[in-house]
Amino acid sequence: MMFCAALYACLLAAPPTYAADVAPIVSRACCECHRDGGVAPFALASPQDLIKRARTIARAVRDDSMPPWFAVVAEGSAHRFKNDASLSAADKATLLAWLDSDERALGDLSKAPPPRPVAPAWRISTPDVVFEIPAPVEIKAKGTMNYVNVRVPTNFTEDVWVREWEVVPSAREAVHHVLVFARPPEAKGRGAGEDEGRGFFAAFVPGGGMRSYDSTRAKKLPKGSTLIFQLHYTPNGQATQDRTKIGLVLAKTAPEHEVRTVGIFDSALDIPPHTATHREMSSLTAPADIRILSWMPHMHTRGKSFVAYRKRDGAREVLIDVPRYDFNWQLSYDYATPLEVSKGTLIHIEGVFDNSAENSANPDPSKRVRWGQQTTDEMLIGYIDYELAHEIAREK
Ligand code: HEC
Repeated sequence: MMFCAALYACLLAAPPTYAADVAPIVSRACCECHRDGGVAPFALASPQDLIKRARTIARAVRDDSMPPWFAVVAEGSAHRFKNDASLSAADKATLLAWLDSDERALGDLSKAPPPRPVAPAWRISTPDVVFEIPAPVEIKAKGTMNYVNVRVPTNFTEDVWVREWEVVPSAREAVHHVLVFARPPEAKGRGAGEDEGRGFFAAFVPGGGMRSYDSTRAKKLPKGSTLIFQLHYTPNGQATQDRTKIGLVLAKTAPEHEVRTVGIFDSALDIPPHTATHREMSSLTAPADIRILSWMPHMHTRGKSFVAYRKRDGAREVLIDVPRYDFNWQLSYDYATPLEVSKGTLIHIEGVFDNSAENSANPDPSKRVRWGQQTTDEMLIGYIDYELAHEIAREK
């Protein structure tokens, strides 16, 4: 009689081997980060690397915490994401069958994909220009730090078109996130850094930190703009210094489409203490016919889920659904097909917050929580990258 340790083991024709079955999946789905010089804390380059951590890896794969990807696409939904990093059910089954097996057969190792080379210094193409904060910021060993705002003039004498960008902190272990705002010379009033809905240009967040647009798209950086680096440090026991930089790859000519970014946000949020499910909402009216290219939901540690939708014939059409929002992974979700939205359409966002003791990331369930910059405060922002459906004629 055949014995199956688990159902998925029965579904596989032959027991998987490392070389033929496991390594190709790991190389494709994990090693972008889990390699020498990558963002993950350990490499997954050999069978030994996997065997050493088999139980932790099996747990992470089973509960979908790795690879980091938190959006769910409903059966039949037209709104899929081209950077969807989630494992297919078949790949999950293969990995788990091998990790959970006693023998963990290696197979013919000469047929396994070669290990990924050491991660390059830049994940984007080699930048044309790099702006670094002019002096290192001292990060203390303990406690919390207020946001640090550093202005870096670009001194561009012409508007430039940015096709790729990447934000790279030097002390990644103590950097919570970095937002980079572009402030044109004529902008008046409050510093862009005080208003996260406007002027947003680029960001370093766990799991993100870069963007490459296709050759028809670019983001405009107006001449004379100042970049405002809003740096949020989280002291981690060891005093250190950080010098964050941003690298830009420029387009030689104006693109077909200008990529713009806007945040849909709810700065009036008010979350009562000891509440497991508190909902906040906001919306934006599409100012023109637009195409949404991507979403980046932003909440803090009480953030539990995020959804965006529009109404069509009275029904909700879900545009993005992140049922298990994870503060540690503020990902950008890029549509496979840009989403057409006609002028005047209301785009709704809805965030659910868990301010109960059940939420292990919650710093203080007894606190009434309002909008604010510290991790202990909250935010609800849905950043979208979009372009105008009818690009305004522009001199090339
Ligand atoms: C986008 C980058 C990225 C990808 C892709 C990725 N990881 Fe990770 N992984 C990380 C980072 C960063 C950490 C450490 C931070 C953390 O634990 O959240 C991590 C942590 C882990 C951990 C430790 C978690 C724990 O509970 O201690 C495991 C196990 C893991 N990854 C396995 C995998 C596997 C298996 C894959 C592929 C199927 C994968 N990861 C894909 C970046 C990534």
